[in-house]
Amino acid sequence: MLATAEATPNIAFVKYWGKRDEKLILPTNPSISATMDFQLRTRTSVLFSKTFSKDEIIVHNKRLAGAELLQATKALDHLRSLGKTRLKARVVSLNCFPTAAGLASSAAGFAALAVAGAAALGLKLSQKELSITARLGSGSASRSVVGGFAEWKAGAKKDGSDSYAVQLAPPTHWPEFRNVIAIVEAGEKKVKSRAGMAETVATSSLFTQRLRDLPKTLETIRKAVLRRDTSSLFPAMMRESDNMHAVMLDTWPPITYLDDVSKQIISAVLELNGSEPVAGYTFDAGPNAHIFTTERNVLAVKRVLLEIPGVKRMIVAGVGDGPRLLSRPADALMGEDGGVRLARYDQETDQIQISH
Ligand code: DP6
Repeated sequence: MLATAEATPNIAFVKYWGKRDEKLILPTNPSISATMDFQLRTRTSVLFSKTFSKDEIIVHNKRLAGAELLQATKALDHLRSLGKTRLKARVVSLNCFPTAAGLASSAAGFAALAVAGAAALGLKLSQKELSITARLGSGSASRSVVGGFAEWKAGAKKDGSDSYAVQLAPPTHWPEFRNVIAIVEAGEKKVKSRAGMAETVATSSLFTQRLRDLPKTLETIRKAVLRRDTSSLFPAMMRESDNMHAVMLDTWPPITYLDDVSKQIISAVLELNGSEPVAGYTFDAGPNAHIFTTERNVLAVKRVLLEIPGVKRMIVAGVGDGPRLLSRPADALMGEDGGVRLARYDQETDQIQISH
């Protein structure tokens, strides 16, 4: 059966940076994030068929190969073992992000793959199983399967069966919570996060200290989210982002994702906050900033960002519901026969245009 799903990226307040098992993608620590709304989304169609002799994955018109294909195949293998089938799959995926967003993220892609893949095999999976499936493709994807605010439990078991994300609170918990995304640069990142985090675990002694401090950070941030307590969340979120970027710099050879514009954003947010925090920044493996705030302070945050010439674009996103299945065959990125359709994302209309 052919199935199509859309999923959105998530942004972590407590970061995942380090694996205890590379193959099963098991993290060194738990993490907490918010899943974004459908302004930024990835659409993925999956078809399992006996006419396919191998798995084939096409992301943004490019066929995956090598290590990337291997990792994606792990998520498909997991679905096959749950569905007790050996059928090979074709996966077609398209990012629906404004161009130059510099936000291409595997989290949305693998969350959509898990949901569409399960539906394509006629499986009714629990959120836990979907999260594990997505995790096998990319760690942070385990959190995008969960709408609202999510916590990815690191787990302790060797087989990873206890390493999955759970919902801390639905999006309705905090309707006025916003992410002002400041797009700084569109280029490909220099060090991929997968390689970067492995180097950190292997070489950084600050990383050991980070892991010691993390339980406290996790508790503070979890509590702040549950209480919608911005005065505690924003400072904790900024210090946690800074801490991850500090261990990146302590890695040998050092990893730097933040650039001068990112640093200007950091100063601007700190200045805006003064003694009463109204916003908190967080950065992933790149220079783009995610500045969390509440609806009534969005304008103030935007005003400050407008003063920084290196900020190319801003997108304001809220917290979203998690992946959705698209049932109309016309929305699929391939036909029932597996024929890949010509598709492109049209920014003007925010629609995917598919040639049938
Ligand atoms: C910096 O999930 O992309 O965004 O599991 O190797 O695919 P893999 O890594 P990935 O790492 C994301 C790291 C981060 C922090 C976070 O999202 O928690």
